[in-house]
Amino acid sequence: MPLVRTMIAAFTDENDRARAAATTMTDTSPPDEAASGPTTHFGFQTVAEELKQKKVAEVFSSVARKYDLMNDLMSFGLHRLWKAFTIQLAGVRKGDRVLDVAGGTADLSLAFARRVGASGQVWLTDINHAMLARGRDRLLDQGHALPIVQCDAEKLPFPGDSFDCVTVAFGLRNMTHKETALAEMRRVLRPGGRLLALEFSRVWKPLSPFYDLYSFKLLPWMGARVAGDPDSYRYLAESIRMHPDQREFKAMMESAGFGRVDYFNLSAGIVAVHRGYKL
Ligand SMILES: C[S@@+](CC[C@H](N)C(=O)[O-])C[C@H]1O[C@@H](n2cnc3c(N)ncnc32)[C@H](O)[C@@H]1O
Repeated sequence: MPLVRTMIAAFTDENDRARAAATTMTDTSPPDEAASGPTTHFGFQTVAEELKQKKVAEVFSSVARKYDLMNDLMSFGLHRLWKAFTIQLAGVRKGDRVLDVAGGTADLSLAFARRVGASGQVWLTDINHAMLARGRDRLLDQGHALPIVQCDAEKLPFPGDSFDCVTVAFGLRNMTHKETALAEMRRVLRPGGRLLALEFSRVWKPLSPFYDLYSFKLLPWMGARVAGDPDSYRYLAESIRMHPDQREFKAMMESAGFGRVDYFNLSAGIVAVHRGYKL
């Protein structure tokens, strides 16, 4: 099984090949016949655990090139405010060591790099090469040569007690074993360090019919027009519905050993930021 490939901004451009490998997804529920072992969710589908990571990889390899544009369009720019709030809440200072898990095209890493200064360090990590390649280019374009590591959040290749702050934005939803990933994020935090998890959550109930209409009709339509890939944006809408709500996710963080866990609803609960400490 995968996969720890350190890249430090020097890998070759194999993302076109990865993108070409992306396949069209079809709804196969009830469970795939291949799913004889443990199963999990991929959007509304039930798939074999080992298949989920592959399917998630296909999604992000397919959308990487248009990912930032689609984020702006889909959220009407709101994702920038959600991320700015998360960064504010992280309270990162000069000299801090920050780990951006599932950091993709590096929005958070960029902001943290400005905050920690030359005495600090920000590590951009993600499991997906195509997303990291975009992140690397954006970082370099803005004068930041950060360490970049392609790795699975469920097996972080860092010693324990290494970071003051760990962040994961819109990543956990896509992971097969969220509890394992949370335990890993806690392990690499130093005592007193904090995790900030920004993720889609449960929208305020009166808004949900409009939100459903938007996400199940408009999102795939936009995905088709802009990214040429409606299925990946259908997966986005479905995976949001399958993710634990605010309270369940708080409980999950507590079970993973985080203390003083609290959360903040943004945009009527469309997203929430959870914060917890390694005490
Ligand atoms: C929606 S993107 C979020 C990117 C970025 N954090 C942002 O907020 O724009 C989700 C990212 O999670 C990554 N991801 C999914 N499963 C992962 C895993 N097991 N380990 C690390 N990254 C993962 C994907 O490759 C993708 O880049």
